[in-house]
Amino acid sequence: MGIWILNGLTVDVNNVQAKKHILIENDKIAQVVDAASGSTPQTEGHEVIDAAGKLVTPGFIDMHVHLREPGFEHKENIATGTRSAARGGFTTIACMPNTRPVIDTVDTVNYILDKAATEGVIRVIPYGTITKNQLGRELTDFAALKEAGVIGYTDDGVGVQSAQMMKDAMALAASMDMPIIAHCEDDTLVVGAPVSEGSFAKKHGLKGIPNESEAIHVGRDILLSEATGVHYHVCHVSTEQSVRLIRHAKQFGIKVTAEVCPHHLVLSDEDIPGLDANWKMNPPLRTPRDVQAVIEGLEDGTIDIIVTDHAPHSEEEKAKGMMLAPFGILGFETAFSLLYTKFVLTGQWTLGFLVDRMTQKPADVFGLPYGTLEVGRVADITIVDLETEREVLKDEIVSRSKNTPFIGWKLQGWPVVTIASGKVVYS
Ligand code: DOR
Ligand code: ZN
Ligand code: ZN
Repeated sequence: MGIWILNGLTVDVNNVQAKKHILIENDKIAQVVDAASGSTPQTEGHEVIDAAGKLVTPGFIDMHVHLREPGFEHKENIATGTRSAARGGFTTIACMPNTRPVIDTVDTVNYILDKAATEGVIRVIPYGTITKNQLGRELTDFAALKEAGVIGYTDDGVGVQSAQMMKDAMALAASMDMPIIAHCEDDTLVVGAPVSEGSFAKKHGLKGIPNESEAIHVGRDILLSEATGVHYHVCHVSTEQSVRLIRHAKQFGIKVTAEVCPHHLVLSDEDIPGLDANWKMNPPLRTPRDVQAVIEGLEDGTIDIIVTDHAPHSEEEKAKGMMLAPFGILGFETAFSLLYTKFVLTGQWTLGFLVDRMTQKPADVFGLPYGTLEVGRVADITIVDLETEREVLKDEIVSRSKNTPFIGWKLQGWPVVTIASGKVVYS
């Protein structure tokens, strides 16, 4: 028995929209029929999902998430994290290795893959760390980690402080045709600051994280990428300076790609309502000028893709206040609706643009065979209600943690059915 999804609205990168019927058989897309042709498919013996008036897209792909397992299961685990992702319409997620132990051995990669297969509901692809224990001192065994199934190397959570270490990592990764994914942060420029340099920090007498702490690494790593030929991917771009450097690098044909998070597109430091750590993340919310720059960067292709940096932390941890609470906010369950409401409903972006940056484009950047509705591909499909406005309610959050600044926001564009590898995993 297969599943027919009838009369859904599809959209491509050029925003060409069409009504389609889609048949899923086993875990694959078996047929895509143009509904305008007039022929109604034979649905007998199949499950039918009526998608009339709803958007039907490839399942969303999030290349930057924190699932916290192993080691921090009080914040999230693979079971809760993948369910939270499924609620957000995601069917493939790439998890960051800053767990405990960190993902720096084959055993830990296997642990993640086993857990994901038995307890997860969507596809989980791990990253391995660049350095052992993320200490920045010694490279991990890139070849063994690749063989075990990592999709790239990153010390996300911290920056690689030594340029020589980063250069060695890039040279090794390049020789294996693997990407380096970088959390860009120069530790000597940020000591003890919980928010960015800007009006919020001034008002509250707080030390600020300067834009240069990010951009110095971006600039350094672009040069190292040019020298080594590696595919260099910049994490969570948040500053005007980083956008400028990446734009320039791309003009020179350097193999650099970049990502941006919904919160950096929608919020500036001026939106932070008070000393509430649910507005604390790293990189921090920057100035309105930076927000404008990352929006323009995404729009002109300087920044390639949208990721959430889903970073769950417990209520106890976030209650420690702006100075002491850990950095990070949830991302999965509000990503699409936030961007749909703020950029598509306002007419700034087409629906096709937003969908592309969360599906086909991330697949292209990382060479994944997902992110499309082509016949024969794995059936990763998300159905989205574009009409209903709903409030973000804390009680409805599926993640084990609740740390998001978006509680109470009224948003439109909610995933209503998520199908991963042909199975309904959220409805
Ligand atoms: O906000 C963040 N949270 N930024 C990071 O770099 C790490 C992440 C986390 O692991 O919580
Ligand atoms: Zn990071
Ligand atoms: Zn991260």
